[in-house]
Amino acid sequence: MNNIAIFASGSGSNFDAIVQKVEKGELDVNIALLVCDRIGAPVIEKAQKYEIDTVVYRPKSFSDKSEYERAVLDDCRKRDVEFIVLAGYMRLIGPTLLQPFEQRIINIHPSLLPAFPGKDAIGQALEKRVKVTGVTIHFVDGGMDTGPIIAQEAIEVSDADTAIDIKRKIQAVEHRLYPKVIQSLFIKEESQ
Ligand code: GAR
Repeated sequence: MNNIAIFASGSGSNFDAIVQKVEKGELDVNIALLVCDRIGAPVIEKAQKYEIDTVVYRPKSFSDKSEYERAVLDDCRKRDVEFIVLAGYMRLIGPTLLQPFEQRIINIHPSLLPAFPGKDAIGQALEKRVKVTGVTIHFVDGGMDTGPIIAQEAIEVSDADTAIDIKRKIQAVEHRLYPKVIQSLFIKEESQ
């Protein structure tokens, strides 16, 4: 079974959705590691509940980004991680991780990219009063929410929707779509 690492910085609802699919036997991966870059993030408790191996870093305590990423790379190698899944990891991936994991890092973003990259994609969509936004899953390259798109799904925004309403609709899509895309990537790899 493929070993994956999930990288997350926040509440971890996507992490939870992925773990639940694995627990139900609907997603054939082994979650070998959670990498969290924020001390006290709620995702850490979720990983503890499922007894998933976790490393928590404070990137600022490293001399630079590449030293931080070398530590993370070491954690991944120790656990034979083959694939990295970013689930609300609010940090750009640098060359130290990108090179060894070329085409093996994916990200989920709460907009229809290339619209609204970066932070607060839902706030940006609300400000523009878009009628449609959505979710994008893509391969990670050196840019901010760039990289080849793997899957997208739209949601409708009504005039009355608040940021909370949009977030609820987006996360319902994310929690269904991300595990499905992860599964399809591994099935594709096996049939090659
Ligand atoms: C998700 O909505 C994800 O799409 C977004 O962070 C949220 C994390 O939620 N990611 C980005 O904005 C990346 N640019 P979660 O911690 O509940 O999974």
